[in-house]
Amino acid sequence: MKAIIFDLDGVVVDTAKYHYLAWRKLAEELGFAFEEEHNERLKGVSRMRSLEIVLEVGGLTGMSEVQKQELAERKNGYYLNMISGIDQSEILPGISQFISRQKRAGYKIALGSASKSGRMILEKLGLADQFDAIVDGNLAERAKPDPQVFIKAAELLGVPCSECIVIEDAAAGIDAALAGGMKCIGVGGKAILGKADIVVPDTEALSGIEML
Ligand code: G6P
Ligand code: MG
Repeated sequence: MKAIIFDLDGVVVDTAKYHYLAWRKLAEELGFAFEEEHNERLKGVSRMRSLEIVLEVGGLTGMSEVQKQELAERKNGYYLNMISGIDQSEILPGISQFISRQKRAGYKIALGSASKSGRMILEKLGLADQFDAIVDGNLAERAKPDPQVFIKAAELLGVPCSECIVIEDAAAGIDAALAGGMKCIGVGGKAILGKADIVVPDTEALSGIEML
């Protein structure tokens, strides 16, 4: 294996909670509760697809494209506001050390995130320089579970897909990695991420994986 491709939200940084809080605020304004139990479905998927899922949960159908655009932008405004002060303290446990160690071991490192704020967040965390390639939602049109975001990252690194390992916290991301012919490590619960080659409970446990 020659490269490691990291998902962002929920793997590098604890931003998944802010995405959830921003969707919940939007749902409240629309008159329904968006509970954490529905949140798993939003992980890894694009902003517009997330909005469709949120509206489906609220039973709101028949919105025009213009209305949907406005709602997605409103949610993004809340999200950007919530992460405006984000800094290194929100990097998930062990991740900075893990990235440094794998770079020293010779792995190329990339980001493969659906988020249009991906690069900006890595910069705020002071991690952007550690990444040999950054693919975020501005570079990939097709959202996970489509493998496009990971395939683009592999291309930018110049590494064949079969020699890439993806680290993901979302079922859609695991499906995307497997569809791209990559190895895949899930961070989180086995019930949700069971299709991954290896599942670890949290980011701290990444350092104990033998295949790396
Ligand atoms: C990631 C997150 C999703 C988020 C998506 C788009 O995949 O896991 O929760 O909706 O990125 O993020 P964006 O910042 O572009 O709205
Ligand atoms: Mg994620």
